[in-house]
Amino acid sequence: MADNKPAILSVFGKEIELPVLTPTAGPDCLDIRKLYGQGDVFTYDPGFTSTASCESTITFIDGDKGELWYRGYPIEQLADNSNYLEVCYLLLYGELPNESQLKDFVARVTNHTMVHEQMHNFFRGFRRDAHPMATMVGVVGAMSAFYHDSTDIGDPWQREVASIRLIAKLPTIAAMAYKYSIGQPFVYPNNELDYASNFLNMCFSVPAAKYTVDPALAKAMDRIFTLHADHEQNASTSTVRLAGSSGANPFACIAAGIACLWGPAHGGANQAALEMLQEIGTVDQIPEYIRRAKDKDDPFRLMGFGHRVYKNFDPRAKVMKESADEVLDLLGIENNETLKVAKELEKIALEDEYFVERKLYPNVDFYSGIILSAMGFPTSMFTPIFALSRTVGWISQWKEMLSDPQNKIGRPRQLYVGADKRDYVPVANR
Ligand code: ACO
Repeated sequence: MADNKPAILSVFGKEIELPVLTPTAGPDCLDIRKLYGQGDVFTYDPGFTSTASCESTITFIDGDKGELWYRGYPIEQLADNSNYLEVCYLLLYGELPNESQLKDFVARVTNHTMVHEQMHNFFRGFRRDAHPMATMVGVVGAMSAFYHDSTDIGDPWQREVASIRLIAKLPTIAAMAYKYSIGQPFVYPNNELDYASNFLNMCFSVPAAKYTVDPALAKAMDRIFTLHADHEQNASTSTVRLAGSSGANPFACIAAGIACLWGPAHGGANQAALEMLQEIGTVDQIPEYIRRAKDKDDPFRLMGFGHRVYKNFDPRAKVMKESADEVLDLLGIENNETLKVAKELEKIALEDEYFVERKLYPNVDFYSGIILSAMGFPTSMFTPIFALSRTVGWISQWKEMLSDPQNKIGRPRQLYVGADKRDYVPVANR
């Protein structure tokens, strides 16, 4: 939507008109697509701090106000009143489903929870103690080798089938990656159970003993899935879009997203945050770690603190903190040392001038690790759980990109600062 008054950019004495695009919410955007053609200049924005890479109708974040909406609905309302599969429908199709649409969607997802039996052999090719994220990157990528009938991205039906398959099978794959890493047998999905209960069952039940999913823990799990379902153009989502912009198949694109999510500055932060709390160990060690976090010569950062977009608070962290309190209460965990360190660290950091000045607040990863650990998940499963929750966001964004008439292959330019043109020197003369 171009506004009537374009912005004027003066480049080397030449005035260039840049159309101003007005969003539903958030700052206006200058349309610089014709800038290179008209002005022979690029823009320079490493880390995309001021660049909108696409138009999107899915998720909105106001980092200053600490707001997050999925399709216009505030995350707090969805976390309190909705559930993950309903949120998946909302993200994928744009509106909340009516009763029959929801029933049909849940049935379609539930019908696809099993993975091809031959995929079990694929898992067995990994080293026995492989990190579940390593296994997931490989296995999700390999889905393109198993499900050929849904890799034609030009066919809307195949796109739909691939989307449902990914949402349905990711919990199964994450649970299998976990079981494999601890040397326990795979547990098949149970379609009698809801999405979150089924995941808990696949992770924690064993053939030798009866396991009943606690409904309160399943609800907390479902909330974790909901809070992580999408987050506009973050690093992994941008990776999925970039991979998809070349026409790659959906399974390959989601595998790329999983790889990006793994990094400790992104989804890997939940594992890193809990490991940091364990490393700090006792409350009396906190001042030393705070000192290190502030020291520019020390690469250490307080994991689970700070966010590229949220400079007020992370609204997901607020909901997650409530959930953490509920889960710990339910499990009767009040006084474990890691929790004490977490609470004290949060308190000190929120009052410390360095963190206040830089608007560094606990993010969603700070609390999610505490809940997941209390539920019995090892730290290595934190990021796989993030990945399975985010899959619907990645797919929704990928589908949106493919149906966008303005979609082209993503291809950033660069500011070249390497050697100037020079002549080859034979090895004997170097
Ligand atoms: N601990 C200590 N200092 C920090 C931290 C931290 N966690 N985060 C930022 N800072 C400081 C930086 O050193 C910088 O200080 P300076 O202005 O004196 O140089 C200032 O705060 C701004 O930080 P940037 O790195 O410019 O912020 P950016 O937006 O690039 O990074 C990020 C955001 C990657 C999330 C960062 O805050 C971080 O590394 N946090 C820890 C990892 C983490 O929790 N990641 C999870 C993100 S949420 C998610 O993916 C779901």
